[in-house]
Amino acid sequence: MKAIDQEILDKYKNLITEIKKEVELLKENNQELKEKIIQIKKKLELVKLEFLSKKGIISKLLNELPKLDPQVRKQLGTEINILKQNIEKEIKEITQTVEKKERELKYSCNVDLSINFSPDNAGRFHILTIVQQDLMSVFAELGFEIFDGIEIEDEYHNFEALNIPKDHPARDMWDTFYFNGGILRTHTSNMQIRIMKQKPPPIKAISIGKCYRRDNMDATHSFQFHQLEGFCIDKQVTFIDLIKTLYIFVNKYFGEDIKVNFVPSYFPFTEPSAEMSISCFYCSQKNENCKICKGSGWIEILGCGMINPIVLKNVGIDPDQFSGFAFGMGIERIAMLKYQIPDIRMFYQNYIEFNKLWGEV
Ligand code: DAH
Repeated sequence: MKAIDQEILDKYKNLITEIKKEVELLKENNQELKEKIIQIKKKLELVKLEFLSKKGIISKLLNELPKLDPQVRKQLGTEINILKQNIEKEIKEITQTVEKKERELKYSCNVDLSINFSPDNAGRFHILTIVQQDLMSVFAELGFEIFDGIEIEDEYHNFEALNIPKDHPARDMWDTFYFNGGILRTHTSNMQIRIMKQKPPPIKAISIGKCYRRDNMDATHSFQFHQLEGFCIDKQVTFIDLIKTLYIFVNKYFGEDIKVNFVPSYFPFTEPSAEMSISCFYCSQKNENCKICKGSGWIEILGCGMINPIVLKNVGIDPDQFSGFAFGMGIERIAMLKYQIPDIRMFYQNYIEFNKLWGEV
């Protein structure tokens, strides 16, 4: 009875034993692993070539079969197929082991990802987010609708429509960044125009977002900051409505028993205009050395006024039928006052300890 030559079987056995030994060595993590893997893969390719390729040993043996006696052919055929399957199986297994090692090498790193988690490291809302959310809920309670705003603006919506003509000196107050085709808005007042154009009165709206100015950074200035804009338009809206609304807002947000004070001011988009101050919530107007109100008893928090009829006309609202009030405040200023944050730059430094101190989980 004819069998596969022992020589062939031995040759295969030796080769595969050698490769398996090398695979074993992969378990010892050392620096030559990559090189070893390459060597093993090369050797596997050689085994494939020598035994499984078209001109390989298995093909040759199979080609011999037709010449043999049917009995022997059957027996030998089975043996060759078993050998072929064994070789394929072993090559597959070794390849899998080697590729697994290769993946480990490629993707693993010596970083301990199981870092100790302490609730102290939990992510928190930034204080500016908290202030914005709180302000929004107070105004939502007062019936104001909340609108998103846009930061990239054209000069018309940031200035002209708000009665700040080109070359008017008032523009200097709101100098900004210009680029081809647009500007970065200098205040959220642009949203008055955009909302008025989008929706007929009555309107009661607020919008919060980022604004930009050509300011150098110091403790109270930043080239990027946030504002809240609010306004209300209806038939027969008066200055009393403005005062009442802001008074309720202040008492809900800063605390009961807070007084408000209005001082005449100038904004091109409101007429008359005012700056509103609140009685000091820190010292209750009792401390001459108060660090918040500097002893004056009052803290200025926003600009406001009756919407200038020119602005209403600009958006096609008839000022003989409708009137409105508007107000705008800086979010950072409110946050600094309420939480006694001494320097505006602290908001933007991404300093984790700052966020731990003032942020909320
Ligand atoms: N836009 C003004 C500023 O950035 C703030 C402001 C003042 C907004 C009066 C108003 C307003 O709506 O009525 O300085």
